[in-house]
Amino acid sequence: MNSGGCLGISSMKPCSNILILGKKSSIFGCPFLLRGHSSEYNLSKSQFKFYSSIKANCSHSRKTLGFRRVIDSNRRVFGGSGSNWGQSKVFLADRVKKNGSFGSVVANVASNTRNNSNSVGSRLPENSFENIYIQGGFNVKPLIIERIEESQDLFGNDEAKRKGDEVKVDDGTFLDTDQFSEAEVSEPTLGINVSEVEKEAWELLRGAIVNYCGSPVGTVAATDPADKQPLNYDQVFIRDFVPSALAFLLNGEAEIVKNFLLHTLQLQSWEKTVDCYSPGQGLMPASFKVRSVPLNDRDGEFEDLLDPDFGELAIGRVAPVDSGLWWIILLRSYGKITGDYSLQERVDVQTGIRLILNLCLTDGFDMFPTLLVTDGSCMIDRRMGIHGHPLEIQALFYSALRCSREMLTVNDTTKNLVVAINNRLSALSFHVREYYWVDLKKINEIHRYKTEEYSSDAINKFNIYPDQIPGWLVDWIPESGGYLSGNLQPAHMDFRFFTLGNLWSVISSLSTARQSEGILNLIEEKWDDLVAEMPLKICYPALEHDEWRIITGGDPKNTPWSYHNGGSWPTLTWQFTLACIKMGRPELARKAVAVAEQRLPGDSWPEYYDTKRGRFTGKQARLQQTWTIAGYLTSKMLLRKPEMASMLFWNEDYEVLEKCVCGLKTGRRNCSRLAARSHIVIE
Ligand code: GLC
Repeated sequence: MNSGGCLGISSMKPCSNILILGKKSSIFGCPFLLRGHSSEYNLSKSQFKFYSSIKANCSHSRKTLGFRRVIDSNRRVFGGSGSNWGQSKVFLADRVKKNGSFGSVVANVASNTRNNSNSVGSRLPENSFENIYIQGGFNVKPLIIERIEESQDLFGNDEAKRKGDEVKVDDGTFLDTDQFSEAEVSEPTLGINVSEVEKEAWELLRGAIVNYCGSPVGTVAATDPADKQPLNYDQVFIRDFVPSALAFLLNGEAEIVKNFLLHTLQLQSWEKTVDCYSPGQGLMPASFKVRSVPLNDRDGEFEDLLDPDFGELAIGRVAPVDSGLWWIILLRSYGKITGDYSLQERVDVQTGIRLILNLCLTDGFDMFPTLLVTDGSCMIDRRMGIHGHPLEIQALFYSALRCSREMLTVNDTTKNLVVAINNRLSALSFHVREYYWVDLKKINEIHRYKTEEYSSDAINKFNIYPDQIPGWLVDWIPESGGYLSGNLQPAHMDFRFFTLGNLWSVISSLSTARQSEGILNLIEEKWDDLVAEMPLKICYPALEHDEWRIITGGDPKNTPWSYHNGGSWPTLTWQFTLACIKMGRPELARKAVAVAEQRLPGDSWPEYYDTKRGRFTGKQARLQQTWTIAGYLTSKMLLRKPEMASMLFWNEDYEVLEKCVCGLKTGRRNCSRLAARSHIVIE
């Protein structure tokens, strides 16, 4: 393995740059461009050949480059996001090496961070980091740049891998570690003859890989060759990378996923500002870009630059609430599939989990256990009337809480957090199961609701006016089956069917077993509306006329039956597949995958489809959309190896169910949960 070093710079506005320099940096050893996706894409064929040979010369080891804040208070549990720039400057003045040679600088920060999670900290080699601080400008927040020693086992189980042993995975089965022994496997390794369509998909997926300092760190959102204005589709989106990551993991390629998790973790700690306001510390970016920029004074040399977007550049400045939740979910999947749990046990990773949870669990004015968010805070990242308590965020939140419960190291620092997680899981599942569920019976109840009920034993707790039941629903709701509504707030129940939220509720067991069955029954029954000619509708039905104008603000991209407004998104097929496998209905998923397979390659793997039946490629859909491709591959692999799927979903958690922490068992006010227990919570 070549141990070529690397030079990397991470930048962000308004904060400036941080320099990372490995032992054998490209400055000294390998004076060529480090592979960054954007650069590679602009190359002609002959240039590409030349460039490929450069890459070979400049290949990088499996080292992971990391950087983290210096000031430990920035990573304090339940810490605020207040600015401490003054402190930072003093620190920099103290710590930056004056003689210009980049060496180890600070030890106390790492140990401070270790104090946050002592049980794991002691396992990390004390001197394994090379820390460098560079002052890059006026607003720079100091960061530690860590370089992991080459000798450190980055992938866990390395010893076993070298010997070609087996690694025990969680469910007691064993995986052949040869699957994980190569960083870049050029052919799928599941040992099955894949179709031509899958081969094409793999090629495209690999073509979307972005490298940072010579190591793969993610996949860009789209590689549409005809796209002259990529906007931010040339970036690595956290949510978009999830199906890519799963495809790689299921194919035995763990390195890219590990790098992604670690690099995004480091980005989490950055100072982030939107017009002088700093959002919460644990916020994960919506996306990041790798730029290769020429070095000022070094002819022909380039540096790699990491440029995250925390929503401060995004259209509408939407908050990427789902990013952190997806990050936690992916971290758990990585552990489950590779059997390498050492990643989630790392001090910095544990701290990262806690920072995300702190953001989600911080007390506010909320009256409900659901997470309160602004519009466009998830896959639907435009104004679509999903502000408040949208189902998608609740389902991801619930999953992330369940993942964290599995992954957090319990110690004095985390024990209160673990209690908070358990309490929230319990309250959240009750709330969603009881109040979001919609079926014929429930609509009938709402139809006869009394309103303006002031009392603790009100039936219509959220004061939903019967008039809110939309006309389309009356005819649409099947006799059996049902779904979880899109949103619930005072006097507002969004009756639209949102696919991702419903599927993820099935996958995470946020819905009861019976509700989960009901959701799949409804999808089957309403196949022509939700799947038709391309799986799957992002939501149903579309907003039309005045509703469209008022709710979307007249968004010309979100016109009825297009994009987020009732468009069909093939990427959702992998989540459907997972839900179907979990519920013992793989044939349903196969049917959907077959529909997608017929059209996706011929249409160049579009981002989304338009019209009621999903007949046309989306008006402004990108082609070669990575999560369309990865979603297809993941679905195929899951269907072939359903036992792998079981590592990605959750069964009912009876411990959480049994818990009722409100204490309202007797007296004037009754516990709603106990009252409801008989019919909906446990089925
Ligand atoms: C669109 C989608 C969003 C996705 C992004 C990149 O903005 O709404 O969910 O992450 O494109 O593909």
